Amino acid sequence: MVLRCIRCGREYPEDEVRYRCECGGLLEVVIDLDKVDTNIFDGKNVTLWKYESWLPVKKRVTLNEGGTPLYKLENLGKDLGIRELYAKNEGANPTGSFKDRGMTVGVSKALELGMDKVICASTGNTSASLAAYAAKAGIKAYVLVPSGKIALGKLAQAIIYGAQVVPVKGNFDDALRIVVEASSKLGVYMLNSINPFRLEGQKTIAYEIYDQLQEVPDNVVLPVGNAGNISAIWKGFKELYEAGVIDKLPRMIGIQAEGASPLAKAWKEKREFRPEERPETVATAIRIGNPANWPKAWKAVEESGGTFESVSDKEILEAQRLLASREGLFVEPASAASLAGLIKLLKNGEIEKDESYVLITTGHGLKDPNIVIDNFRLPEPIEPTLEAFRRVMK
Ligand code: F0G
Repeated sequence: MVLRCIRCGREYPEDEVRYRCECGGLLEVVIDLDKVDTNIFDGKNVTLWKYESWLPVKKRVTLNEGGTPLYKLENLGKDLGIRELYAKNEGANPTGSFKDRGMTVGVSKALELGMDKVICASTGNTSASLAAYAAKAGIKAYVLVPSGKIALGKLAQAIIYGAQVVPVKGNFDDALRIVVEASSKLGVYMLNSINPFRLEGQKTIAYEIYDQLQEVPDNVVLPVGNAGNISAIWKGFKELYEAGVIDKLPRMIGIQAEGASPLAKAWKEKREFRPEERPETVATAIRIGNPANWPKAWKAVEESGGTFESVSDKEILEAQRLLASREGLFVEPASAASLAGLIKLLKNGEIEKDESYVLITTGHGLKDPNIVIDNFRLPEPIEPTLEAFRRVMK
């Protein structure tokens, strides 16, 4: 197992603390596919560590992550006329988002490398997750978040797990710039998704989808922020394919919020990627203008024959309401971007109804209660009598 640059192909040993190639390219972990266990995909006892032989760590800092439900969305499937529609509900992870997959592997790696301080920039979920796993590992976590632009639940999590929370006057991209510098100059281990070991944990979403469905879906649809997760899931499917476990690959469909959509814009305008200076969206989790993993994400979409799309805040909030009211699934706004994107692509005739779709619902709705409460007016309280309730019921 080695680290390899996706741009120039140069290789580095796995036990070197390194986040990028000398050439500046992103690194990926190359797994020795001769040594993985290909006989475990029996649909039983699905948890992240079931796939240990496919993961590049020996230590294990765990809170029992993964094994999240794959719901069949019967109601919405019917409403939209889609043959098969599923949601892989990552909100069911220990801290309520898919980040736990990356952190169980990433923090385990930090311990293997002998690091006792970890750091990340975050729009919220990464900070909550890193804080929890650092607590479990007994090491110090620093989390840099855009001041005033992080959902309440996520902030509460990072605080109570004992991380040092550092609000930054700026957005996620500003915070990440500081973190990258700190990791090279101040001896802290960076656990943003530029760290290839994070993506190793997150690739298990692909393993689990195949394990639970016992087949490869035609399409996987997910929100894109810093663009790590789409890259990770694609890597997972490709490894299954290369190891001979599966014989087809899904299309990867990445959805961004309109106000923070540098990838979707470049894709649709068929031009070079350019970062956005002032990202803005209600889906604060994906309020990112300069996704660090964009080259990997671009490759994932290109190689898989997928697409990028963007959706408005209004479409995101409507999709959030639909998932909750039609399927009993309360997800945070960023997660609802997946359904919003699917609806838009269907409407525009860009995707087929007679196919299967897995939406990745990336984070729990309770992370961001304000988004619901602020848009809802609670009625006046009633007198404590049946009569008063009878009047309301009419
Ligand atoms: N959905 C949620 C709920 C997220 O928190 C994030 C990213 C994404 C989707 C996008 O995933 O960055 O891999 O493309 N949140 C990061 C954070 C940036 O700091 O919590 P991505």
